[in-house]
Amino acid sequence: MNFWPVLHQTWSGEEGARSGGAGAPEGAKAGTTTKPLPKDALVIIPLRNAVLFPGALSPITVGRSASIAAAQEAVKGELRAGFLLQRDPQKAEVAPSDLYWVGTAGPIARYITAQEGAHHLVVQGESRFRVLEFLDGWPFLVARVAMVEQPQTQGPEVEARFLQLKEQAIEAIGLLPHAPDELAGVVRGMDSPALLADLVANLLDVKNEEKQDILETFDLVRRLDKVIAMLSARTEVLKLSKEIGEKTRAHFDERQREHVLREQLRQIQKELGEGEDASAEVEELKKAIENAGLPDEVLKHAQRDLKRLQRMGDGGAEYSMLRTYLEWLTELPWKAQPQQPIDLAQARSVLDEDHFGLDKIKRRILEYLAVRKLNPEGKSPILCFVGPPGVGKTSLGQSIARATGRAFQRVALGGVHDEAEIRGHRRTYIGALPGNIIQAMRRAGTTNTVLMLDEIDKTGAGGFHGDPASALLEVLDPEQNHKFRDNYLAVDFDLSRVMFICTANVLDTIPGPLRDRMEVIQLPGYTEQEKVEIAKRYLVRRQLDANGLQGEQAKLTDAALESIVRDYTREAGVRNLEREIGTALRHVAMQIAEDKTHGVTLDSADLPPILGPRRFENELALRSGMPGVATGLAWTPVGGDILFIEASKVPGTGRLVLTGQLGDVMKESAQAALTLAKTWTGEALEKFDVHVHVPAGATPKDGPSAGVAMFLALVSLLTGKPVRPDVAMTGEISLRGLVLPIGGVKEKTLAALRAGIGTVMLPRRNQKDLEDVPPEAREKLQFVWLDRIDDAVRCAIGDLAPAREQPSS
Ligand SMILES: Nc1ncnc2c1ncn2[C@@H]1O[C@H](COP(=O)(O)OP(=O)(O)OP(=O)(O)O)[C@@H](O)[C@H]1O
Ligand SMILES: [Mg+2]
Repeated sequence: MNFWPVLHQTWSGEEGARSGGAGAPEGAKAGTTTKPLPKDALVIIPLRNAVLFPGALSPITVGRSASIAAAQEAVKGELRAGFLLQRDPQKAEVAPSDLYWVGTAGPIARYITAQEGAHHLVVQGESRFRVLEFLDGWPFLVARVAMVEQPQTQGPEVEARFLQLKEQAIEAIGLLPHAPDELAGVVRGMDSPALLADLVANLLDVKNEEKQDILETFDLVRRLDKVIAMLSARTEVLKLSKEIGEKTRAHFDERQREHVLREQLRQIQKELGEGEDASAEVEELKKAIENAGLPDEVLKHAQRDLKRLQRMGDGGAEYSMLRTYLEWLTELPWKAQPQQPIDLAQARSVLDEDHFGLDKIKRRILEYLAVRKLNPEGKSPILCFVGPPGVGKTSLGQSIARATGRAFQRVALGGVHDEAEIRGHRRTYIGALPGNIIQAMRRAGTTNTVLMLDEIDKTGAGGFHGDPASALLEVLDPEQNHKFRDNYLAVDFDLSRVMFICTANVLDTIPGPLRDRMEVIQLPGYTEQEKVEIAKRYLVRRQLDANGLQGEQAKLTDAALESIVRDYTREAGVRNLEREIGTALRHVAMQIAEDKTHGVTLDSADLPPILGPRRFENELALRSGMPGVATGLAWTPVGGDILFIEASKVPGTGRLVLTGQLGDVMKESAQAALTLAKTWTGEALEKFDVHVHVPAGATPKDGPSAGVAMFLALVSLLTGKPVRPDVAMTGEISLRGLVLPIGGVKEKTLAALRAGIGTVMLPRRNQKDLEDVPPEAREKLQFVWLDRIDDAVRCAIGDLAPAREQPSS
């Protein structure tokens, strides 16, 4: 009957009571009572902090005199004892009301009196029981009980849960670091669902109240369900902690491995007589230190360490740690190299060579360079390129490096959440290395470097390992960065001559103090035409090279490129565009390699067999055109999108139901739109619920700018007149019916253009933003400027008179 190995390493039960051991011997003597127990009674041993389950073999420590007496009575009379959890583990004197009344009975398999006077029991849980009443007259607790046998329920309901639990349990055991090997086998071999549920509940690291709850769940299906739920929750946690553990280990192992390998290499070289002996090595380091151009203070520091190294002699872990450190010191670019003066004309031509369009951005970059040229030692702000993926942020940084004759290095910050990744570990840490800023400086080998801090918006918030943002602040702040201190180097390093450029997808996740030091340049994304131009000038060329094709061997017509842009990609940048071009060209390369052709020109009609069916059909026609639907425009980090707002009404009590995972601001905006629509149409709507839905999709749905669209969807619903399908809109509304300005005009209009919208309604006060909108969009779209919601109704639905005059502002 004992299925389970003993798993508890520690003794549980009455611990804590041990200190009161003085009373124990007397208590033990009290156990000599002979008054027999009634047939249906058990001696009761209260447990402070453990729940005994049927089938479990558990070690328990008893200290309270009554408990010791009870245990001795049970052992002497070869009786089963009953074990009950006490409600408050702190309580020393327990009365019946301090105990749970459901417990497990079983024999005491071993009774051990340890030297310090502690009494250890090994008990074998056998069956659940319920207390009927407690009896007086013994020097320990005694209760009349009713046994509760394990349920033998069968059927598909139980079977299905049993199998699920088994599978989950085996998975969980695999995740436990110290689980005995045979445990998975034990679980696999079990055939009693009730026992399996108890086993898992017993092993789970959950509160005793929760275990007690399982003990008290007699119904098998419910017990299985509860245990499955508990186990799932724990498994998630286990998985996570295992993942984290593995990550740190991998990181750590790699560094240690390098260290060990280097050491081995050195030993082998020594054996072969190839390695220099220690003194030659020291000599070499000494020269390197002299030539490294170290600032005075660092020089002194390095020479002191070199002396220590000399004294240590060869070999030893500390020797090699110190040597590695000195190598790092000598390989960093300490000396400020003369800077090549910035040639603006040349810079302009480099920027133009590498990137199509982006005129305004290139101008900002040139202005920035001009300021640096005039005042090279001055504290110029840090450039930060913000925009969706694939719009050219990283490649602009490379261009700037090329234009200014600087080296280019990139530090990826995405997912960095440990300050040490930026600032390094102290040398006392095994396998310590400098952080990624200093590493990048060594790779660059010169202070004349453009150092790109990529994805600065994706650094973690910083947990107990310190905040990466504050380390970055020190890197970027011109007041501090001439004395940047890496934990590994432990001396100041001057970063002030480095040109830092940051990139980010969104601004708002960049910590405020960091953002304040940056000059933000937005790259909102490209129009269809711009993308085709970029493809023609850059992407096709690059993909031809990448696939080993000559220019004459494969061509893509303009129509083909347009089709890839419109039908196969939907993005603000050009990364997928380049990928699809690559796919098309690889297809051609394949044919040429198989000698099926010498050269191909691909037209748009050739694409579906290669790239598959067109992916993005016009969604507008499918959705709009019915009363209650309006097309909104949303700003997203990846460059704007259209958004359908759907409203319907059902019999009800005047409630507003919102679905589609809307943010709080958007919910409030819907509420305002409904109030306004009711006033505007004069519909009281007391007998209806209104349901507003914004269909799911990747678009984040918050902010006030869908106000006009919500209002129009509702007016359309209430009047039964559809909104024109070729109109899209954005704007916040006030309860007085005013249309208020919004952000992201350029992204939103580009999204409208991509989606095939003809007319865009925008708040009048956004008219000034029209100059940011690319000419192509300005030509193709019609713009309607809104002062009040009435203007929106007139344009998008038609001439409806408002039911009541609106209060004017
Ligand atoms: N205006 C442009 N002219 C020519 N090529 C461009 C232009 N814009 C982007 N590209 C090219 O598109 C590709 C993607 O750009 P890049 O890697 O710089 O994107 P990114 O903005 O850094 O994106 P992410 O946020 O994903 O890092 C690059 O190969 C780049 O050269
Ligand atoms: Mg990038």
